[in-house]
Amino acid sequence: MSNDNKNSINSDNPLIRVQTTDWNKERLEQLKQLMPDLFTNDGQLNINELKKVVDPKSVNETERYEFRWFGKSNAKREAFTPTNATLVYDEARSVIPSKLELKELKNGQNTEKNSENSANPVNSGPDNFIIEGENLAVLKLLSQSYREQVKCIYIDPPYNTGKDFVYSDNFNQDRKEYWEDAEITENGYKIDTNAETDGRFHSNWLNMMYSRLLIARQLLKEDGVIFISIDDNEVHHLRKLCDDVFGEENFLGQVSRLTGTPTGQGTRGLVSELDYVVIYSKSDEGDFNGVEFDEEDKQIYNQTDEKGQYLTRPLRKTGGEDKREDRPSMYYPLTAPNNTEIYPVGPGGYESRWRCSLSKYKELEGDGMIEWKEINEDESLVWKPYLKFYLEGRLKQPSDLWKNMDGNKKASIDLKKLLEEKIFDFPKPVEVIKKCALISSDKNDIILDFFAGSGTTGQAITELNQEDGGNRKYILVQLPEATDEKSEAYKAGYKKISDITIERNKRVIENIINSFKSESHKSESSKSESSKSKKANDLRLKANDSSTNDLFTNDLSLTTNDSSTNDLRLKANDSSTNDLRLTTKNLGFKVFKLKKSNFPRVEYAPDPEKSEEENIEALKKYIRDKEAQLVTAFNREELMTEILIKNGFKLNYTLAKQEAFKKNEILMASDGDKETLICLDVSIADETVEYFKTHTDKKLIVLERALNTTKKWNLKHAMGDKFNAF
Ligand SMILES: C[S@@+](CC[C@H](N)C(=O)[O-])C[C@H]1O[C@@H](n2cnc3c(N)ncnc32)[C@H](O)[C@@H]1O
Repeated sequence: MSNDNKNSINSDNPLIRVQTTDWNKERLEQLKQLMPDLFTNDGQLNINELKKVVDPKSVNETERYEFRWFGKSNAKREAFTPTNATLVYDEARSVIPSKLELKELKNGQNTEKNSENSANPVNSGPDNFIIEGENLAVLKLLSQSYREQVKCIYIDPPYNTGKDFVYSDNFNQDRKEYWEDAEITENGYKIDTNAETDGRFHSNWLNMMYSRLLIARQLLKEDGVIFISIDDNEVHHLRKLCDDVFGEENFLGQVSRLTGTPTGQGTRGLVSELDYVVIYSKSDEGDFNGVEFDEEDKQIYNQTDEKGQYLTRPLRKTGGEDKREDRPSMYYPLTAPNNTEIYPVGPGGYESRWRCSLSKYKELEGDGMIEWKEINEDESLVWKPYLKFYLEGRLKQPSDLWKNMDGNKKASIDLKKLLEEKIFDFPKPVEVIKKCALISSDKNDIILDFFAGSGTTGQAITELNQEDGGNRKYILVQLPEATDEKSEAYKAGYKKISDITIERNKRVIENIINSFKSESHKSESSKSESSKSKKANDLRLKANDSSTNDLFTNDLSLTTNDSSTNDLRLKANDSSTNDLRLTTKNLGFKVFKLKKSNFPRVEYAPDPEKSEEENIEALKKYIRDKEAQLVTAFNREELMTEILIKNGFKLNYTLAKQEAFKKNEILMASDGDKETLICLDVSIADETVEYFKTHTDKKLIVLERALNTTKKWNLKHAMGDKFNAF
């Protein structure tokens, strides 16, 4: 071992200076220098490999190609064990524009609309969600209601650079989960750095990713696609991991993206100006939408006629299968403008063929799609037919090189401008995430980002909807990770990264509304200038959502004329004025927080890895919790959300009180796909039970504690699976 190497080990570990030499460690280092193949990717000695060197027959193993690391099976088990957490609605941090506007317009007075909303917080508003919580637990909670609902997942996980904070899962349950501690939730959760010197450096990262990808896959639609940003530190492992989770055959490509910020200067190896986006689909149904041409692509469409910009390509088939014998029916003479007969002839004079049959040629000629050119060939002029390709309406397949896009520096500058301070390191450019969403989803799809950071994905989706009138929805998940007390973020009042996620997306919405308002005022003034000489209906406005009317009643008079349109549109007669558009549907977001369940675990299952004594202790605790549940006063809204999520309802559920019931409060819950009647009263009246004995068409959920054995039996007997005591 060279002195240099020894020194670098010593300088990493301050204890070394006060300890005697660890000879075993040094001997292992020497062995690793000699035989690196005996060591795992994490640098651990693989005893089986060593045994194979000494006595190959002593190792009985079936050789097969597989990707393994320390903790893989635990991580898989962790992905599929239920969580003891739930989500609660955080109204105060949610941003619902009609409310925001009303506050501003009506000087903070509590309006009718406001009180309506707070009586039933989850009942109306946008279908975008920012969830503050640990993503594995959140994904587990979403996996029932959003299973096969998400069209596009974009994630930007820690790159595992050796300086990243990586959340390590709590397999053995001896560490208290953060959501059990209100103080941590309030002040932010501190996570540890995954240091390169950790013997399980790569395994730690892989374990963290594996369980999350396994469960995320379940959320994807059959034709859904996942995009994962990554760099050279883990790209090779990520590809193998994704082959394992999504299947090698579903690898759609690996984008190289110019970051615009070279890193690694002054170290060994190449300076890096790239990072990657690894893309997999859930099944063979996943594919990309075409993308529009950029200016560079358009340059080759260098001819123009009355139909627009076009390029030409020879009508003679080129490339493979271009011989007469390949398609004899596509070998025929054509009459050139000088009345000579022209045959398809390949280089050197062989008989070639046209791209189409004679009848198709006649059709193309009739449509003006053929152009004859006189070409100088072997020093004589010859006529050749060409096919025209027009630019308009043409899309191209996305490529795996993303250049000419905003880089990382621009992303940081934009975010700084929005939040007025530099409070988040390394956000991704909005443009990159917009492109991922554009090529993989349609205008009504759900896009998920469960490593949300500053919430760039929320901004990308909101802006895309504004640009094309889309109704895409986003779900962002971000850990309430504590910001460093010395950081600009902390000083600016952002104690947790999730505070930044929320504030950024709030400002994006405010900016959109403000710029719409100021533009519409400008149009208003220009309209009144010219109104004396014009007809009264200069403005054409559309709106279908009565809540959106509230947004602008003080500024503009709106009329609802098209219930199918979600846009507020203001179009001034003056042709110099732009068509202003505000897509109000789905503008805003609701915040949910991960929290300990209101219920102790519903089913007690003994842990096979625990001793009998430990299991008995756990069972006793379970019973204690169960008893506590019977006496604890509960928060009705929180309980409602938990029961509905755990019964597979999406977060956008609505509730409608059923006035026909006089003895109990019964609500109809619906999320657009599913519906159920639900009652959270602590006692169900005889009259209500009688009603459901004969009205068995709808589902009903009631609290277990609200029924005695007889009532429960009666309802179960009458309603069967439609009845659920929770
Ligand atoms: C690289 S950043 C994402 C940056 C983001 N793309 C942007 O443009 O701002 C990764 C984020 O994932 C968060 N994160 C890490 N582990 C997490 C976990 N287990 N659950 C939820 N969020 C987590 C980190 O707090 C960090 O903010």
